[in-house]
Amino acid sequence: MRFFKGCVAALSLVVCSAVSAQVQPILVQGAMDIETSTLIQAMKNTREVTFGSWTFWKGTIDNYPVVVSRTEIGLANAAAATTLGVEQFNPRYIINQGTAGGHDPSLYRGDIVIGETSFNMGAYKMSFVEKGKGIDPAKWEHFSVTMHLREEGQQVEHSQFKGHTPLIDLAIKQTETYKKGKVVKGRIGTADQWNREVDRIDWFHETLGTSIEEMETSAAALVAEAYKVPFIGIRILSNTDQHKQDFDPQTAVDCQLFVLDYIKALIKEQAA
Ligand code: 5AD
Repeated sequence: MRFFKGCVAALSLVVCSAVSAQVQPILVQGAMDIETSTLIQAMKNTREVTFGSWTFWKGTIDNYPVVVSRTEIGLANAAAATTLGVEQFNPRYIINQGTAGGHDPSLYRGDIVIGETSFNMGAYKMSFVEKGKGIDPAKWEHFSVTMHLREEGQQVEHSQFKGHTPLIDLAIKQTETYKKGKVVKGRIGTADQWNREVDRIDWFHETLGTSIEEMETSAAALVAEAYKVPFIGIRILSNTDQHKQDFDPQTAVDCQLFVLDYIKALIKEQAA
């Protein structure tokens, strides 16, 4: 009998660990410490692991596995951290969140943009100009770089990346609980740039339809698309020169608190 009980216990341990090994975590990304520390503090059973320059914190929220990733700043870092995040943790979803600058004049500091699309805003092309004739950024044109990703043996072109619709719908449902500003769907322009010339910002908004600019989302979205992991970008306006509102670090915390509620809603939805 004791032997039998022992076998049952051992078997259930194996089955339980096999089941928990199958639960894919939610991977949530932020570029800087101010954009990740609130989320890390909210997790239980936290363990830190670093690969190269990219650190991840594994833990749980409401008993569900979550991995917080500090991507570091910029497109190259975001792509590297997302690739590592997918390969190391096999996430169920990827949430890229953090601060951004306003491009849509109807948005103010504290408002949150849920990325319907994101794209590489930092690519330009220009007409030939003779030596000695100067530089004129006003004449530069956006270069719609298409990414080729392999899908079922075919190269598929992407000039932008779409957020995962069910993830977007769930975020929009949370509009009423967020008290620091509006929550809207929008278009995220990603570039290794911080634009402060208001005419240029307006030009991005009018010609490319940007709601906000930041430095990571579309690079993370590209990798998520390549691996077919459902992706959402959630960005808060931390600054907007259109309204003379400077960077406020509190917005990074407010964004994480919104994302924390969002993760809890996502976990609840998964369980239902
Ligand atoms: N332009 C570009 N990046 C911004 N960020 C916040 N506001 C802006 C802005 N106006 C974010 C980027 C990057 C960090 C420097 O801040 O995504 O991670």
